[in-house]
Amino acid sequence: MPATWRDLNALRHLEQACFHLDAWTLLDLIGVLSFPSVVRLKAVDGDLMVGFIAGDQRGSKNVAWIATLAVLPDYRRQGIGTALLGACEDALTVTFIRLSVRAKNATAINLYQNMGYQHIGLWPSYYQGGMDAVILEKQRVI
Ligand SMILES: CC(C)(COP(=O)(O)OP(=O)(O)OC[C@H]1O[C@@H](n2cnc3c(N)ncnc32)[C@H](O)[C@@H]1OP(=O)(O)O)[C@@H](O)C(=O)NCCC(=O)NCCS
Repeated sequence: MPATWRDLNALRHLEQACFHLDAWTLLDLIGVLSFPSVVRLKAVDGDLMVGFIAGDQRGSKNVAWIATLAVLPDYRRQGIGTALLGACEDALTVTFIRLSVRAKNATAINLYQNMGYQHIGLWPSYYQGGMDAVILEKQRVI
């Protein structure tokens, strides 16, 4: 379901639980919950936000970037990440969807490859700690 600025605290908690070093700042979180060009969706268990995805097509009619995807540790391996990605793709109106992911994040890379994303590049030392970013892309016929 769509996420709104009312989800700010829940999103902050989710980000910290899932990303540690790479967790977004408060300003990043406010931005992702308010920019009009962002598709933002959450997965919930009752009142608890257990997953979140944001896809941003700012400034481009053809390319969107998945800005973040996260599922709380206790809720993983149940298909929630895949479902959020599929729903976000459906809501985006672009041909190309791209994302960056830590080169050693095999879990996320598996998920993206299962969903049809292909390796298109590498950004050296992009993340905190000097880890490379792998750039993945999915091309759709829309
Ligand atoms: C990546 C993440 C969102 C996946 O969420 P999830 O709800 O567990 O994903 P799914 O249940 O849909 O799993 C989809 C596929 O991912 C892969 N996968 C999931 N967990 C895995 C693990 N522990 N080891 C290897 N592959 C794994 C599998 O291919 C899985 O498919 P399968 O269950 O049919 O084998 C979640 O692990 C997470 O929040 N991680 C921390 C944040 C992060 O790294 N986000 C991505 C940054 S770009």
